[in-house]
Amino acid sequence: MTSFFKRTLLACAVAGVSACGGSNTTSNTSSVEAAFTDRNQNGVMDDYENPALDVTSRAKNLISLLSLEQKAHLLTGTGFQLNNVGGSEKVPGAAGSTFAIPELGIPAMVLADGPAGLRISPTRDNDTASYFATAFPIATALASTWNTALVTQVGDAMGEEVKEYGVDLFLAPGMNIHANPLAGRNFEYYSEDPLVSGLMAASIVNGVEAHGVGTTIKHFVANNAETSRMWLDAHINEQAYREIYLRGFEIAIEASQPCAIMTSYNKVNGVYTSQDEVLLETVLRDEFGYEGLVMTDWFAGDSAPAQMQAGNDLIMPGMPDQRQAIIDAVNNGTLLETTLDRNLQRIVETLLKSPSYNDYAYSNQPDLDAHAQVARQAAAEGVVLLKNTNHALPIQSDTKIAAFGNTSYDFIAGGTGSGDVNEAYTVSLVDGLNNANVPVFEPLKEAYTAFMAAEAAKRPPKKHFFELQSPLPEFSVPEALLSDAVEASDVGLITIGRNAGEFQDRKLDADFNLTNAELSMIAQVSAAYHKAGKPVVAVLNTGGVVEVASWREHVDAIVLPWQGGQEAGNALVDVLTGKVNPSGRLATTFPLAYSDNPTATVFPGKPTSEETVKDPYIGLFVGKHMQFDYVDGIYVGYRYYDTFNVPVAYEFGYGLSYTDFSISKVTVQPSENPAEFTIKAAVSNKGKLPGKEVVQVYVTAPAGNLPKASKSLVAFNKTASLQPDSTEMLTLSVKAKQLASFSEQQRAWVVEAGDYTFHVGHSSQNIAQQVTVNIPESIVVENVLATLTPPAPVAEISPQ
Ligand code: BGC
Repeated sequence: MTSFFKRTLLACAVAGVSACGGSNTTSNTSSVEAAFTDRNQNGVMDDYENPALDVTSRAKNLISLLSLEQKAHLLTGTGFQLNNVGGSEKVPGAAGSTFAIPELGIPAMVLADGPAGLRISPTRDNDTASYFATAFPIATALASTWNTALVTQVGDAMGEEVKEYGVDLFLAPGMNIHANPLAGRNFEYYSEDPLVSGLMAASIVNGVEAHGVGTTIKHFVANNAETSRMWLDAHINEQAYREIYLRGFEIAIEASQPCAIMTSYNKVNGVYTSQDEVLLETVLRDEFGYEGLVMTDWFAGDSAPAQMQAGNDLIMPGMPDQRQAIIDAVNNGTLLETTLDRNLQRIVETLLKSPSYNDYAYSNQPDLDAHAQVARQAAAEGVVLLKNTNHALPIQSDTKIAAFGNTSYDFIAGGTGSGDVNEAYTVSLVDGLNNANVPVFEPLKEAYTAFMAAEAAKRPPKKHFFELQSPLPEFSVPEALLSDAVEASDVGLITIGRNAGEFQDRKLDADFNLTNAELSMIAQVSAAYHKAGKPVVAVLNTGGVVEVASWREHVDAIVLPWQGGQEAGNALVDVLTGKVNPSGRLATTFPLAYSDNPTATVFPGKPTSEETVKDPYIGLFVGKHMQFDYVDGIYVGYRYYDTFNVPVAYEFGYGLSYTDFSISKVTVQPSENPAEFTIKAAVSNKGKLPGKEVVQVYVTAPAGNLPKASKSLVAFNKTASLQPDSTEMLTLSVKAKQLASFSEQQRAWVVEAGDYTFHVGHSSQNIAQQVTVNIPESIVVENVLATLTPPAPVAEISPQ
């Protein structure tokens, strides 16, 4: 229905735009007398043009005006050009764009990656301005802060860049589970634990979407390997599927209701996730209450009509044959036009709330200086101190340093592929030392920089933006230079660097495991420094977990700054000098050896046919049809190591401080709702320096009938910076679903009757106090609607 109102043909500069999850109207304009834009130039205010109406009716009205051809366009993106990139003229380098419909005055929406910051081209043709974005710490580093408020601030800074660079939908955060350390995109994801993943993702979503732009949580679901990712079929039994892989998404949706979700490349239990109606309509929407739009990953799946049917609303980057397939399917009666309208409703609601639709006058000038400070703070708080003997750290500001390892001089800010950010600079470890006026042994620096420049010059240029170049060979420091360094410095720093990115998984040799050159560098440098009575500190500038057990005895301290974004060097030096007391804790386990991981022998799956397959559009991605059986079931990460008593190098939740904390006065109070608890714990700083502590609450549930891990994280919280001898009381709450297990038989989440022990402590293995409560009768927390079983049950490991 078209409404006829007083017409003032002004651009509708809508105030208070909220991308998603916000109010249902796109404007705070309450009066129908308000100004509007006659977008289709028909001289009247159609409902979709009326900012005073609710967004649901506006979207319905707009959809009713679309032809089938226009519908097919809005349901698919505008395409892709390799190397620059998604067909957005408005924001070059953005990953994709939706179609504009000029006859209806509908602009394109711009979609750009994530997750470590906004990925757009830093320069533009015939334009002298620059468009750098801030490289924030990678997701794994953010999770290591265990500080959701700080991660929300990071989201806030990201959101300003998204909005001020003219982007509508940020293709982040990523939140798959770290089930195997070789998964190539682990750096883009938070943790091996769904609660940490879900809450971290929600923090980014809330921070970004406060700006009235959208986020996209990805990759839904079980995108846990890169090898043959477009043809990989993950087989997962239902309990593990729900408790581990879906659970983080469910938590994020509950805590932040993101604007968009991106389905993954892979299949789960035989069906592409983007073509799985049960997954998208029943689980995601009906069970989880998700209200936003669902888009595919780029070129994912093999049938556009099946994606439409499944409720995968938007196909990205979008290809002409996909549009044609949708039109043909409607015309030949295999796809209902009402199904398209259902999907369009979710796209158009997002569109109507987007900055592009609302003519937001973006500045192209986000506050990069302020965001660099946020990046530095987050990077420093994400640093995990793994080892610190003989008070090797912190160093005094006049300590003389000699820096070994190529990456000391060329820090890795973040991983490659779509998760790479085009930042203006990266502060290396040595830059950070210089900035803090810590003296660095120059002859060593000169030798490294000359060697690395010569080696880099031998490399062929990158073929694509996402190509992961092999690392430069490690410089072998001549004996004489090493002795000079030992003589001239007080501490030796050795950086081990690793990079990874999408399209390929990491390797065991020379990646998870250190190279021989690195091992001999650690041995030689340590021996030389120790002979002179001086300490050695190892720095792990990695996106993921590496082997440490075989060499850690050589060094006095190990610091894990991960890939800390563009301010990584400054942030690390803040920690090395004690300006920031490390408070990062591992959100992913460091095993003793790769072979200790329960998926070590099955990752990343087995080919199911020998035929080589290629993606049909750009022909760059080659692989095989594969099947990956999730044999570890619910025993992922610490849930496995703990339950199966497998010793690890550094456990989940672990991290040292320069001060000491005690946790005491733990109470566990039941709330009015059954199986919900409030936990209180007093954290005292017993040491000599101010610092922050993370309180972690794990639960051991009764044996009962359902498989359970020996401990699961149910809550965490972080103190403010505590002065020596001061105490903070932390309050944490645990919802019933956190205590529940999924029962395939009962088709429900169930808290089984029995004793529940709450372990409140500093890490998964360093528990300060335990409290046991009894739940006398089983409680069904939630019944489910969908059944999610694999074609044949996966033979899982079992602790018995
Ligand atoms: C990645 C996504 C990304 C998309 C757009 C894909 O290759 O898997 O995470 O958002 O490209 O760049």
